[in-house]
Amino acid sequence: MPAPNHPELSHCLQQVLPSAQAEAIPLPLTPAIKLYLINQDFPQQSLSQDEMLAVMNYPAYWAFCWASGQVLAQYLLEQPERVRGKTVLDFGSGSGVVAIAAAMAGAATIYACDIDPDAMMATAANAKLNQVELKLYNDFFDITADIDVIIVADVLYDKENLPWLGRFIERAPEVLVADSRVKHFSYPPYTLIERREGSTVPDLDEFDEFRDVRIYYAHRR
Ligand SMILES: C[S@@+](CC[C@H](N)C(=O)[O-])C[C@H]1O[C@@H](n2cnc3c(N)ncnc32)[C@H](O)[C@@H]1O
Repeated sequence: MPAPNHPELSHCLQQVLPSAQAEAIPLPLTPAIKLYLINQDFPQQSLSQDEMLAVMNYPAYWAFCWASGQVLAQYLLEQPERVRGKTVLDFGSGSGVVAIAAAMAGAATIYACDIDPDAMMATAANAKLNQVELKLYNDFFDITADIDVIIVADVLYDKENLPWLGRFIERAPEVLVADSRVKHFSYPPYTLIERREGSTVPDLDEFDEFRDVRIYYAHRR
């Protein structure tokens, strides 16, 4: 049976890749979580010049579950005490994978924040698909509630996002960051607590180094 398709999210993808669909698929590392992602057989190699430019101008990050997101979701499902009963904020939620894992792990209230309005739409659709409740925000600074834990996966691909590491620990007493992009990660008080292999879904055939996901933890003293 074909995977269920999400018409509005498929429509967003078709603005840049006319044959793309947003299909619901279970994640390999956390099959309890299903996400609407770009169809696995989307044409990676055979994009025209115009399609390539369109993809670069509109990077639909929400249409992939990034390796760090999948690994952090798996970690939270295995170690639910990290978030159970707490107020959690997923920064750069994309598809919403980490926020959904936090909800499944028993977090009391979960905020999902992403600057991309289409990512917010994807997070909302994926929350509904997984039957969890999330509060959605485009702007981190609009969230006024007390936050116990900030969770972050794969937002450090852009070096301009590095200063957020300092803002997170000012905003919440605990922060978990999953990343496979920063080579020499040295940002006290963040310390490496876990290293796991993961891949982006659908698999983008990235270099092995980007499959080596590290989880860093910081807490305020
Ligand atoms: C590579 S995706 C990761 C998505 C998801 N966390 C995962 O692991 O699959 C990075 C996401 O961070 C979002 N993002 C980047 N900078 C941001 C900012 N300053 N505030 C909120 N979201 C941001 C992007 O829009 C994108 O959806």
